[in-house]
Amino acid sequence: MSTARLLPGAPVAESVLNDVRERVARLQNRGVQPSLATILVGDDDASAGYIRIKQKQAAELGFSSPHQHLSGDVTQADLLKVIAEFNDDKNVHGVLIQYPIPAHLDYDAALQTLDPDKDVDGMHPLNMGRLAVGLPGPLPCTPAGIEALLAFHGIEVAGREVVILGRGATLGRPLAMLLAQKRPTANAAVTVVHTGVKDWPRYTQRADVLIAAAGVPGIVRPEHVKPGSVVIGAGVRYEGRRLLPDVDESCAEVAGAITPRVGGVGPTTVAMLFRNAVTAAERAN
Ligand SMILES: NC(=O)c1ccc[n+]([C@@H]2O[C@H](COP(=O)([O-])OP(=O)(O)OC[C@H]3O[C@@H](n4cnc5c(N)ncnc54)[C@H](OP(=O)(O)O)[C@@H]3O)[C@@H](O)[C@H]2O)c1
Repeated sequence: MSTARLLPGAPVAESVLNDVRERVARLQNRGVQPSLATILVGDDDASAGYIRIKQKQAAELGFSSPHQHLSGDVTQADLLKVIAEFNDDKNVHGVLIQYPIPAHLDYDAALQTLDPDKDVDGMHPLNMGRLAVGLPGPLPCTPAGIEALLAFHGIEVAGREVVILGRGATLGRPLAMLLAQKRPTANAAVTVVHTGVKDWPRYTQRADVLIAAAGVPGIVRPEHVKPGSVVIGAGVRYEGRRLLPDVDESCAEVAGAITPRVGGVGPTTVAMLFRNAVTAAERAN
């Protein structure tokens, strides 16, 4: 029987989005219309669905959201042209390139042409560099969402041992940099483990906070978890529409607190996208 406290993401997202809504209203009162542009390439149903959800939420929060839908056979040059147009448009404050894009296009190269100050995903190499040296800039959304989730639920990481399973560029690596920063909601002793650390359970078993960021379904099992500790499941793999999380459900029998199978980190990621967008609009004005 599970005794772990659940750590849902929805209330965290709601509190972040309430703040975003107020900041959007303040900008509008000053005559600035915050704008988050979106780019979708191709006709993948899931990607089109994600874009629709984000546009609906953008409208609900008060953003305008100009949209460019490019056909699946566009050239890299066509994609770069659209990015350049949004870069040059002073009325556009943030740009979201829906990932993934068709395989014949180079996402990383496209991202590098995006104005870093409009990079609402926080994934541009310049923003990774800003994070590394502690300069202000858009933060990668999932790591920022995880920090917010921990803080919202009163889970202190300062001075405690956080172990991250996975060092991927979108999640594990930037999260490690974020949680090791000298700030009250970070300041953790961070350890990152990966395939190069064959005995990684030795590290996770001593973690006060274990964050699964591998994308390997069921990789984290109860025997990898310190009794009473906090387990955050961020890694997931999709098989069709089926979501397969890194954290096996039975971990809830050992952990003291744990994210739910669905509705944990995900909602906080989307909220951080809008927080980055409103911050970009404020900085530009
Ligand atoms: N919830 C959300 O909103 C959200 C947002 C972004 C990403 N994600 C998910 O987070 C996961 C990670 O994303 P990513 O882009 O960082 O992925 P990635 O680049 O594929 O990184 C995966 C990491 O996990 C490690 N790993 C894989 N199998 C392992 C094993 N058997 N033992 C130990 N370590 C292992 C890899 O080690 P090596 O480096 O040694 O290969 C790598 O460091 C994915 O599932 C992704 O879907 C979720």
